[in-house]
Amino acid sequence: MTEAPVLSIRGISRTFVGQERDVVALDNVDLDVQKGEFISLVGPSGCGKTTLLRIIDGLDAADSGTIDLEGKRLNGVSQDMAYVFQDINLLPWRSVRGNVELGLEARGVEKAERQRIATECLEMVGLKDVMNVPPYTLSGGMQQRVGVARALAVKPKVLLMDEPFGQLDNFTREALQAEVALLWEQLGITIVFVTHDVDESIFLSDRIVVMHRNPGRIVEILDVNLPRPRTQAEFRGEPETISLRSKITALLRSQEGGL
Ligand SMILES: Nc1ncnc2c1ncn2[C@@H]1O[C@H](COP(=O)(O)OP(=O)(O)OP(=O)(O)O)[C@@H](O)[C@H]1O
Ligand SMILES: [Mg+2]
Repeated sequence: MTEAPVLSIRGISRTFVGQERDVVALDNVDLDVQKGEFISLVGPSGCGKTTLLRIIDGLDAADSGTIDLEGKRLNGVSQDMAYVFQDINLLPWRSVRGNVELGLEARGVEKAERQRIATECLEMVGLKDVMNVPPYTLSGGMQQRVGVARALAVKPKVLLMDEPFGQLDNFTREALQAEVALLWEQLGITIVFVTHDVDESIFLSDRIVVMHRNPGRIVEILDVNLPRPRTQAEFRGEPETISLRSKITALLRSQEGGL
């Protein structure tokens, strides 16, 4: 018997009404995410990936449909989720640790405890040594790590990550992919990850959700049958990776305009 999903998305639709035309960002999207799962959303620009994450997080409201977290209907912003944005936007007047404390502050955690948790999370992403510096003195990769630490600090039931490594160079991106995979394994958290990068989705995921644009729909959900832990050096040449890569690429190419 399979366990009840941690996140249950049912019939989510969202249309943005424009002056010239309406955009159906999401059309009747259903998705179940299992506890501890790493699931990726892949699809062309404008297929509704960010819209779906924002609706899951309660930052935007759907026109119709429901989101249940552990069987409870969500309504508005949920304290049980954390969001890592593509554009990390750290507060320049706060130290690195001060930025990691933000979500804890919003949840009313007292100062000493906030500092303890923030320090622990910065240690997890290898940034304990720079916790007192202003964030703008860090490289792009380090700033993304701060974003990951900030999200982990609130111990989310579901971690939502929206193209978190999209702006990084290949080398830094691979290093962060490996770190996120390790943290996910160690902490046993559930992650919904958005990416344009097909190989990134294969490396990280248990399942890959391929989406279609206008109307934004799920085209196919693919299982990734690769053993873990995976290594960057090995996974690319695996027959499973090659087969998934060609399936996903074909699904994306068949859409007008491709990626
Ligand atoms: N606030 C908004 N007002 C109007 N249209 C919007 C708004 N937010 C999103 N859209 C439109 O909805 C569609 C889906 O947008 P969304 O940002 O979810 O796509 P995406 O899959 O995340 O794309 P990308 O890969 O480029 O980030 C797009 O056509 C976008 O222009
Ligand atoms: Mg987006």
